[in-house]
Amino acid sequence: MDASAETIPESLLGWYDTHHRCLPWRAPPGAPPPEPYRVWLSEVMLQQTTTAAVAPYFARFLARWPNVAALAAAEEGDIMAAWAGLGYYARARNLIACVRAVAARGGQFPQTEAELRALPGLGAYTAAAVAAIAFGERSAVVDANVERVITRLYAIATPLLQARAQIRDQVDAITPADRPGDFAQAMMDLGATVCTARGPRCLLCPLSDLCAGRSLGPEQFPVKVPKKAKPQRSGQAFWIERDSEVWLVRRADTGMLGGMRALPDDGWSARGDGDAQAPLDGDWTLAGSVRHGFTHFDLDLQLMVYSGADYSRIDPEQGEWWALGRLDEAGLPTLFAKAAWLATAGTVTGRTIGD
Ligand code: ADE
Repeated sequence: MDASAETIPESLLGWYDTHHRCLPWRAPPGAPPPEPYRVWLSEVMLQQTTTAAVAPYFARFLARWPNVAALAAAEEGDIMAAWAGLGYYARARNLIACVRAVAARGGQFPQTEAELRALPGLGAYTAAAVAAIAFGERSAVVDANVERVITRLYAIATPLLQARAQIRDQVDAITPADRPGDFAQAMMDLGATVCTARGPRCLLCPLSDLCAGRSLGPEQFPVKVPKKAKPQRSGQAFWIERDSEVWLVRRADTGMLGGMRALPDDGWSARGDGDAQAPLDGDWTLAGSVRHGFTHFDLDLQLMVYSGADYSRIDPEQGEWWALGRLDEAGLPTLFAKAAWLATAGTVTGRTIGD
């Protein structure tokens, strides 16, 4: 065995024992693991999202749906609404598919990475993380923090996109059979608190003596190919208010913000601009714009407010009138929550809200 395959986990776990982050979904170092449901829920929420943003959502979900059976029995719309603001809404749809499959097999998560991976809506990262953290399986858990630590530790100069298999193999080579879940979380904590993207604190690092990247300048790793500028898209959303209620629609299950409650819009999508066709006849006023960054494009959304009185084209099958006083319970995704704020915040003309 390569000496570093013993030294690295030993040094890292020793560091984790005293420097781990206390997070609500974790067991203390060395303690028996938390329930698989908690581990799975947190890992789904934590993809692409910070621990600080996840913590309140995790607490609310657990209080409302404390176990597999409760979440599997929940209304899809309620789950989507509770997810609102956390972003990457495909994760919530995958969460629902997965929890229902687990409920259908008696409510128990399978215990190996391979079986977890076979569940609907559960990707490679989550399968590895749940297998390691909840079930103690020696599986290679690789998230963005881990990628950064590994590319520095081994001075991997291949651009990140092509280096993924190599990184996974390196993680596999140093993941111990004992405490693999703590090891995975120790790598994440090291990446989040010491081996940070900018200004890494190498003097505090338990692996600095073993790190090939340190003397070369750790910040050059991981090597990234410069990103192309994101396309700019534009569209309109429509604010239709009547008797202190606003008309909200439910977006189609597939596609951008799928399944979420929303303001009606003119059909802007990931691929194109909207057609600026208003849903009702009559007068519309531009109230302002909202800028919002999605993963693959930036959107400039104009908010049009209706001042006509012809509601005949409203299709009750497509949405519902929602009391303005309860708007914060509608579960609007951030883009539409910003637009709603623009419409309801008093002087509305000409304002632009950024990310
Ligand atoms: N990011 C993803 N999973 C995590 C975990 N278990 N702890 C901290 N950060 C994480």
